[in-house]
Amino acid sequence: MPPDFPIDLRSDTVTRPTPAMREAMRQAEVGDDVYGEDPTVNRLEARAAEIFEREAALFVPSGTMGNQIALHLHTRPGQEVVCERRAHVYDYEMGMPAAFSGCLMRPVPTPDGRLSWDFIAPHLHLEQHVHQARTGLIVLENTHNMAGGIALSAADGDAVCREAHALGLPVHLDGARIFNAAAALGVPVARLTREFDSVMFCLSKGLGAPVGSLLAGARSWIQRARVVRKMLGGGMRQAGVLAAAGLLALEEGPAQLAADHAHARLLAEGLARLPGIRLDPPQVETNIVIFELDEGMDAAALAGRLAAAGVRCGAVGPRALRWVTHRDVSREQCAAAIEILAGLLRQPAGARPA
Ligand SMILES: Cc1ncc(COP(=O)(O)O)c(C=O)c1O
Repeated sequence: MPPDFPIDLRSDTVTRPTPAMREAMRQAEVGDDVYGEDPTVNRLEARAAEIFEREAALFVPSGTMGNQIALHLHTRPGQEVVCERRAHVYDYEMGMPAAFSGCLMRPVPTPDGRLSWDFIAPHLHLEQHVHQARTGLIVLENTHNMAGGIALSAADGDAVCREAHALGLPVHLDGARIFNAAAALGVPVARLTREFDSVMFCLSKGLGAPVGSLLAGARSWIQRARVVRKMLGGGMRQAGVLAAAGLLALEEGPAQLAADHAHARLLAEGLARLPGIRLDPPQVETNIVIFELDEGMDAAALAGRLAAAGVRCGAVGPRALRWVTHRDVSREQCAAAIEILAGLLRQPAGARPA
């Protein structure tokens, strides 16, 4: 059977709700969640807390809001937040650490996105110095999106949390794709996230829900997070229609991720064979494939040619493209994407199909 077009590899956020999700949304029991009266939201929050083995969880509209609520609660204005150089909280959250929490980001470069304590330690300001902002928080990202979806192990997370806690510093986990890490490592999300002070994870990425993320943590901290969510306009009233899809994503989404990861490996192996492309397939651990183009090639231009040929993806640098697998791309579509790119690389850049 020929693959469906377009093949959308821009992100795992592009998935559409399944028929079962739409049915669950139709039937969802709802109430006003700002009063804590939406039974479906309450069920989703309770289930998330149970899966992550935390006292409580909070449904938020987006991963960005979840991360920024956490930053706000863990810090005071004038403090620094340490994160990896390519972290989502630094590059893609609209300057909110500064705009909303009055914090300065301290992005730390690493060769491969693994922000271990050895990289963090030299960047900490532990005493209140007359010249420098004090460190208030460390943020890790698992999987690390812009580092090619690498998965941090439980030992990686534990080590950073242990060192930070010994210095009295909290650690937040941007676990937008923590279920991908769990699938890749064969370790439950509760174990991967156990030592973190707070965890954000997304339903609307690989798990396939149309909307929503959760924050998980201690009950008193989640109560405070609920207040900050309201400040940000995140009190969503009859949000049970969204939570109903989220519950299905939470129960059924994780089982899909192994297939997404296999598709990403297929893409990586196919890409590595193409001329002009630099990629080491074993570095692809989950559902994100970032590859470099040879000198003289232009990622945005190639993304434009791919889109015209039916493959949608994003340029993530002047010579880097990102392909992301998800439940709405099949194995056949992945194979077709490779063939289409191979065809484009054989044509001179100016020669477009009629
Ligand atoms: C690692 C990471 N964290 C946070 C987010 C933010 O999620 P949202 O798009 O729901 O705000 C994203 C979104 O792509 C992400 O990749």
